[in-house]
Amino acid sequence: MFEKERFIEACREALSEQNPQAAIRELMARGVSEPARIVQALGEPRRAGVETIYRGSDLTILNLYWGPQMQIKPHDHRMWAVIGIYGGRERNVFYRRSERGLTQHGTKELEVKDTIPLGESIIHAVTNPLDQITAAIHVYGGDFFAQPRSEWDSETFEEHPYDVANTIRAFEESNARLKST
Ligand SMILES: [Fe+2]
Repeated sequence: MFEKERFIEACREALSEQNPQAAIRELMARGVSEPARIVQALGEPRRAGVETIYRGSDLTILNLYWGPQMQIKPHDHRMWAVIGIYGGRERNVFYRRSERGLTQHGTKELEVKDTIPLGESIIHAVTNPLDQITAAIHVYGGDFFAQPRSEWDSETFEEHPYDVANTIRAFEESNARLKST
């Protein structure tokens, strides 16, 4: 049974394990194996947005509602992460740095109950390919909001310092689509 406070506590405890990321992936897999329980605990997804469930210097837990057709530019995290999906679908496109900025090197479509660990140096773009909200829990092995990092223009692959305003705009645009449908 998923409970928010218990999940936070278990993730914090997992930080003292030999492989915190693997331990948290196990917790995540157990959590998203019962997606309805997470909806019960965190609420029904109605609008695109992000809720910070926990933020500390060594751990960030986010509850993400990706809006219909929402796209997040290629970006890095500079810390390990674990993603778990409990509603909808999340398309991940992975990139590597190259002479022309970035080169695509794979995609991964995550569905409900899927989890994925992401390495510290991963660069990815995230899309919700659906006309409904995708609900995901993202756990990061550090203070996600304090970490300076990069994002890349989706077309030119030019690298810039990450700008949270772009992400906020993407949430707002997808909420506008949500209202018009
Ligand atoms: Fe990301």
